[in-house]
Amino acid sequence: MNIHRLGNDVTVLNDQFEIPALGHLPINAFVLHAEQPVVVDTGVGTPDRDFLSTLSSVIDPADVKWIYLTHPDRDHTGGLYDLLEAAPEARVITTFLGVGILSCENPLPMDRVYLLNPGQRIDVGDRSLAAFRPPLFDSPATTGFFDTRTGVCFSSDCFGAVMESPDHAAVSDLAHMPQAELKGRQQLWATVDSPWVHNVDPKRFAGALSELLRSDPTLVLSSHLPPTRSVTTLLDNLVDVPLADPFVGPDQAALEAMLAEFEPISA
Ligand SMILES: [Fe+2]
Ligand SMILES: [Fe+2]
Repeated sequence: MNIHRLGNDVTVLNDQFEIPALGHLPINAFVLHAEQPVVVDTGVGTPDRDFLSTLSSVIDPADVKWIYLTHPDRDHTGGLYDLLEAAPEARVITTFLGVGILSCENPLPMDRVYLLNPGQRIDVGDRSLAAFRPPLFDSPATTGFFDTRTGVCFSSDCFGAVMESPDHAAVSDLAHMPQAELKGRQQLWATVDSPWVHNVDPKRFAGALSELLRSDPTLVLSSHLPPTRSVTTLLDNLVDVPLADPFVGPDQAALEAMLAEFEPISA
């Protein structure tokens, strides 16, 4: 994992996954260095990853007071239970649905949960976290939030892009990737991750983007896109996505064609 410190307040824990036929997807978790430290999402949990040890190079896990789980998808919960053990005072900020979804596999202890709905805020000492529902999301449990002290917006899966190279998936600022291809990659991500967007009235969707712009974020942090201050570009790139071509994944014939390209392992 790559670690990027952004000023005094945020550290990005940047991981990535290669998606066959598409490219390299950034997977970001964050540490918000508030008076009561907050870890935002906990990465992937494959055996070759160790979220807790990566986190330990940024903050003593025992000091973590809050784990803000934007939603309980597997690329956000990898280190959740290890961190709960290592951070005995930490509570998980999530929604009623988030608790419900997690309870299907590994229930959270209810005394470690803090339920926060869009429109509500929570005090973390020197600032509040103001929860909102991002314009795009792939889980009904999703919330993002604004840090009321700095204006930084944590947007969960709303913005993303599958990158051409591992280097682009690891940049510390979106400005460091080729801008000409950004809109296409953002739109592809939106159609993959939020396919319901094609059923949305384009005017209402544009209204949701405008509402986010009016909140005037100083920096947008995304689970699947490098950090950016170019908020207008980020939103403009998505405004016509309800009318974009729906994503269709590779089918069985494509899979068999891919497999046929692999050389058999010789004995
Ligand atoms: Fe997700
Ligand atoms: Fe995600």
